[in-house]
Amino acid sequence: MRKQPKISVIGAGYVGLCTAVGFSSKGYHVTVSEVDADKAGKINLGIPPFYEPGLQEKLAAGVRDGYLKCFVNQTCKVVLGSDLTFVTVGTPSRTDGSVDLSYVESVAHEVGAALRQRSSFHVVVIKSTVIPGTTQNTVKPVLEKESGKICGEQFGLCMNPEFLRQGSAFQDTVNADRVVIGSYDKRSGDILEDLYRDFYSPQLPPIIRTSLSTAELIKYASNAMLATKISFINTIANICEKIPGADVKEVAAAIGLDKRIGPHFLDAGLGYGGSCFPKDVQALIACSKTLGYTPELLDSVENVNRAQPLKAVEFCKQQLGSLGGKRVAILGLSFKPDTDDMREARAIPIIDELLREGASVAAYDPVAASSAKTVFGSKIRYARSALDCIKDADCAIVVTEWREFQELTPEDFAENMRQPILIDGRRIYSPEKYSKKLKFAAIGLGK
Ligand SMILES: NC(=O)c1ccc[n+]([C@@H]2O[C@H](COP(=O)([O-])OP(=O)(O)OC[C@H]3O[C@@H](n4cnc5c(N)ncnc54)[C@H](O)[C@@H]3O)[C@@H](O)[C@H]2O)c1
Repeated sequence: MRKQPKISVIGAGYVGLCTAVGFSSKGYHVTVSEVDADKAGKINLGIPPFYEPGLQEKLAAGVRDGYLKCFVNQTCKVVLGSDLTFVTVGTPSRTDGSVDLSYVESVAHEVGAALRQRSSFHVVVIKSTVIPGTTQNTVKPVLEKESGKICGEQFGLCMNPEFLRQGSAFQDTVNADRVVIGSYDKRSGDILEDLYRDFYSPQLPPIIRTSLSTAELIKYASNAMLATKISFINTIANICEKIPGADVKEVAAAIGLDKRIGPHFLDAGLGYGGSCFPKDVQALIACSKTLGYTPELLDSVENVNRAQPLKAVEFCKQQLGSLGGKRVAILGLSFKPDTDDMREARAIPIIDELLREGASVAAYDPVAASSAKTVFGSKIRYARSALDCIKDADCAIVVTEWREFQELTPEDFAENMRQPILIDGRRIYSPEKYSKKLKFAAIGLGK
């Protein structure tokens, strides 16, 4: 039987913690280093520091059974106690849209310094999303300088982009569609491939072996494609709204049957948010421009997405006229259902604009209220339930398509609101059913 490698993970965010819990749930020993002491403390109690379905019980089991332990800012210790290190720190946007690689760079210094003390071959795996060239041109020289060792000979280096989706992050980690392994040296690529073959066995996803920079680009191309699909269908939605009787949902269902197009990711709405699509599209644009090419398609994808959430406010004004003194109910705050992540959530520009127009806002989200408080503070009312949120409102807007909102009936809106005006920003309601008792407007629905 092959000896299982010991794994270390640097950075216990969505990617790092799901990676750590994924491996520990299959019996690997995983140590994690995290700078945030609060997060580390929670993790060691078996409590995920963020909401993610299915993660809690697997984390708790991993900690209880001794397969997973998190240390506060102990990169050197966890590297030295393992055979392979995943780097999963954040790569946020700078104000000009380019990617801030400072966390990755600083971890590379720490990991390199640890490697100086190692005698056996260690594999460093960059899992953070980094622009093409980063692993080779930034990470490798730092690792070599700090360790005094030669990459490819005395330690190995891979780039292994992550494709998990928040809201199903743990499931995506243990049931990946594909594994992309970019490697500097064949030996470390083989070690990582073996690890994944063992981890996914017997349901092995396709494994793509490639260069470091191609692996880095695959991640950006993947997110740029998904963002493009969303801005494309939102463009069609905006056209539908000008055509009486047209409905983007039917258009999407029909075009999705074309095998060349496919049915996924064609849901018109208020645009994409979250910690990845906006930042990754911006970073790809910035990187491409630095290389002397202006990716106009991606500029347009961004422009469509920036304008899209404000359509909800536009609909609101069409129904109510001036918003001064009007009460608007926001159903859903997180950037997508099944997460409490508010990063780039569409609720932010919508609520900001409503408040700017003088409306008062009540909002309800099944899990994101406390993270939303760090964004909106006391500027809005946080309702205890969907019904409490729409109570006495002049207009309700569905911003995030949480499943429980589908259970609200036309009567719920008609009986609880001051004016029964409903804006379906995520196309969760049947127009036929909801327009009978309510003034109903929806993204992509021709008047
Ligand atoms: N969130 C996603 O859905 C997702 C999906 C695929 C890829 N990614 C990419 O993966 C990377 C991580 O994303 P995330 O959402 O997990 O980020 P995150 O912000 O949730 O987590 C990053 C963690 O790293 C920690 N950290 C920073 N510096 C550290 C250091 N020196 N030592 C130890 N810990 C440190 C932070 O405290 C934080 O907990 C990013 O590049 C992102 O683009 C994210």
